[in-house]
Amino acid sequence: NRQPASLFTIFGATGDLAQRMLLPSLYSLEREGMLPEGLRILGTARSEHDDGSFRNAVAEAIARFIPESERNEDCLARLLARVHYQAAALGDAASFEALGQRLHSLRDERDVVYHLSTAPRFYAPICDAIGAQGLGGPGTRVLLEKPIGRDLASAIAINDGVGRVFDEERIFRVDHYLGKEAVQNLLALRFGNALFEPLWNTRHVEQVQITVAETVGVEGRGDYYDESGAMRDMVQNHLLQLLCLVAMEPPTHFEPTAVRNEKIKVLRSLRAIGRDEVARETVTGQYTAGAVAGKAVPGYLEELGRASTTETFVALRAHIDNWRWRGVPFYLRTGKRMPQRRTEIVLQFRSVPHSIFDAGASKLAPNALVIRMQPEEHIELRLMNKTPGLDRHGLQLSQVALDMDMQEEFASARRRLAYERLYLDAIEGNGTLFVRRDETEAAWQWVDAIQDGWRRAGITPKPYPAGTNGPASAHTLTEKHGHDWLD
Ligand code: BG6
Repeated sequence: NRQPASLFTIFGATGDLAQRMLLPSLYSLEREGMLPEGLRILGTARSEHDDGSFRNAVAEAIARFIPESERNEDCLARLLARVHYQAAALGDAASFEALGQRLHSLRDERDVVYHLSTAPRFYAPICDAIGAQGLGGPGTRVLLEKPIGRDLASAIAINDGVGRVFDEERIFRVDHYLGKEAVQNLLALRFGNALFEPLWNTRHVEQVQITVAETVGVEGRGDYYDESGAMRDMVQNHLLQLLCLVAMEPPTHFEPTAVRNEKIKVLRSLRAIGRDEVARETVTGQYTAGAVAGKAVPGYLEELGRASTTETFVALRAHIDNWRWRGVPFYLRTGKRMPQRRTEIVLQFRSVPHSIFDAGASKLAPNALVIRMQPEEHIELRLMNKTPGLDRHGLQLSQVALDMDMQEEFASARRRLAYERLYLDAIEGNGTLFVRRDETEAAWQWVDAIQDGWRRAGITPKPYPAGTNGPASAHTLTEKHGHDWLD
């Protein structure tokens, strides 16, 4: 009984995310004819705007964030004709009543979507206000931005608060990584091919690495970031979601319950890392002044303007205690101000059991599947190959890569914003690529134990110069188990 929404409401419609991602995504959906007939878009925030001035702001955001080659006046006019605005401030009951009336007047019998792109502390109060206006019943759904809290207790409080008004099936938690083409392609690769599945387990996989490296620092977001750190900002959500997609069992269907049931099993199989393990299994860092891409950049503390022990880098060794993955380390690593932007998953396979080649001439490197997701998308299978030529001592082998470059393969495909996919699915009521309550809470539980371990073991981040791959101990983390970060 799903039906496309006819009213899409953005709370926080004048904010940075809305300008950069949300409004441009709606524009692109409009351009591709994906928005349902008659869909209306209502922006709301504290700022005073009327429909006209907000439409101007939308047009400005499109001009700034949509490349010129994709802009067109007719499409913009069609989008703007859908757009409305109603100011509302939480402390001001009258303004919420007016918002309620506006929503009633704009909606028809079809569904309504609310996207809360505000600070998480407002989620429950906004939902209460929506409920109080009689606008939270069947046929309505709510999208929540991360972070859902800063630990398990605060996540439960938010989930309970939102859950008073919306049933779980109508709560869509956004992890924008799930909206990325490359992330969905991971599912296509695993479950659209028969080739990998027989190898995808502890018998054949030696180690898995997930890296999300960024070149950016914290810039204007210092206040948020300092409360959060790399663990809460990236590992709790994006990295653990990637880990779930790599490690989960094949779901029976590509639909919300089946997919999320498999992801939660992975999260629940993560071995706890607590006080006694943190020193061995985790490394944290904080960037100091340095240079990224030849440009001098300040250190974290200088950007922040005060002392802090918040980590801007985390590397850790995780274990998934189940039949498929027993004994396979999953190395996760993420940091700001790294030398290159890079999101990548690598599966390194076990070595051949016995080499028939002269060890002096040919050292056999293990096979690896490299799934590069950002900045460009490609998949590479590293294989040993005969080096052409004659050799008295037998065959010379070297490692080569079977390489699939998505930009080449799909040259005409436009690079999409993750929110295009997520908004389309939200409009249509498909929650497959959104995070369920139990996933968020299981992820927090695992992260909380590590944070608590750091606190109790007195672990603080080690400095690393901006433009490097984190503190040296990040290398020790893999080396002591006979592994290397595969760059
Ligand atoms: C966000 C984090 O969720 O993801 C940011 O809060 C981070 O700190 C961003 O920079 C990275 O996303 P992307 O899409 O640029 O890889």
